[in-house]
Amino acid sequence: MSKKAFITGISGMDGYNLSVYLLSLGYEVHGIIRRHSVSSTQDVRIANLNVTTYYGDLLDQSSLERLLNDVQPDEIYNLAAMSHVRISFEIPQFTCLTNSIGVLNILEAYRKVVPKAKFYQASSSEMFGSSVDADGYQRESTPMHPVSPYGVSKLFGYHVVNVYRQSYGLFCCSGILFNHSGPMRGEAFVEAKIVKAAVRIKLDLDKQLELGNIFAYRDFGHSKDYVKAMHLILQQDKPDNYVVATGITKSINDVANYVFEKLDLSTVFHLVIDPKHKRPQELDYLKGDSCKIRALGWTPEYTFESMLDEMIAYQMKIYGGKTFKPEYY
Ligand code: GDD
Repeated sequence: MSKKAFITGISGMDGYNLSVYLLSLGYEVHGIIRRHSVSSTQDVRIANLNVTTYYGDLLDQSSLERLLNDVQPDEIYNLAAMSHVRISFEIPQFTCLTNSIGVLNILEAYRKVVPKAKFYQASSSEMFGSSVDADGYQRESTPMHPVSPYGVSKLFGYHVVNVYRQSYGLFCCSGILFNHSGPMRGEAFVEAKIVKAAVRIKLDLDKQLELGNIFAYRDFGHSKDYVKAMHLILQQDKPDNYVVATGITKSINDVANYVFEKLDLSTVFHLVIDPKHKRPQELDYLKGDSCKIRALGWTPEYTFESMLDEMIAYQMKIYGGKTFKPEYY
């Protein structure tokens, strides 16, 4: 019999890539989608996948319990979240309800209804905040000092998963994922915004790109590699937490320069800094040490460059350009 997975946040980038991966492994995939008033945009990523979706919400305990009871999953992947750090300063209460109480809700439903299942929590490197070890890396043992409502909300989810594991003996784990992207990335995130704008400028559809702080550093990986790590974490004998990262850090300026140069453009002529894209407090630097999960056999296939090339090629296809020949795609 095929294994069953239940994914919250299935309509997001990771939900899509995880579904594709699990389907390729023979899983039956189920997931919940939050109702929006514009229903046509709700499941654009997963519309053509052989997955079963239901309306559900991390804040609706009864639907979580009913669906887990109906589906009886072997694995639960909790990817749903209010995932935008800057916006978490604008809607801090909704962010904390969804990313903190929402995790508690699904953990409770899991504990009551399907306690034999394995549970994955999408934890985030934003939880580290201003904290970096002396050697310049963040790892599982690095203290966490979040600097945004989003980071704080994710830290609650991380800790409550630990508490449920230790208190009830549940197989629940966190992947502490550093920034990850790919063609399916939402354009509100910086690398996707840069790629889309650069392609549109190249095709004379736009003139400039507005960014906020370009001197922050992030460790960028590819979602396709990172969803494999999520699955691997649940295939172990014991539940545990793992950092998932490339170990390479780049500034946002590096991202912009790479993408613009790849398209024979220059940021000098097209990049404008607008303070409206800045945050009240910034996380300056992320670089992850993923030795622990690499010891299980995980290794990323994409590089920073091959990931951005794939994203450029995807946007070029959308906007009809024929001029870009990626090296790695
Ligand atoms: N979004 C955005 N838009 N960010 C900008 C912009 C802009 O116009 N200009 C500069 N930045 C800077 C931000 O200030 C931040 O330092 C960096 O680009 C990355 O911002 P985001 O792409 O919004 O990602 P993030 O690092 O805040 O959060 C992402 O990674 C986390 C893991 O560390 C998200 O995917 C989170 O959901 C995830 O948990």
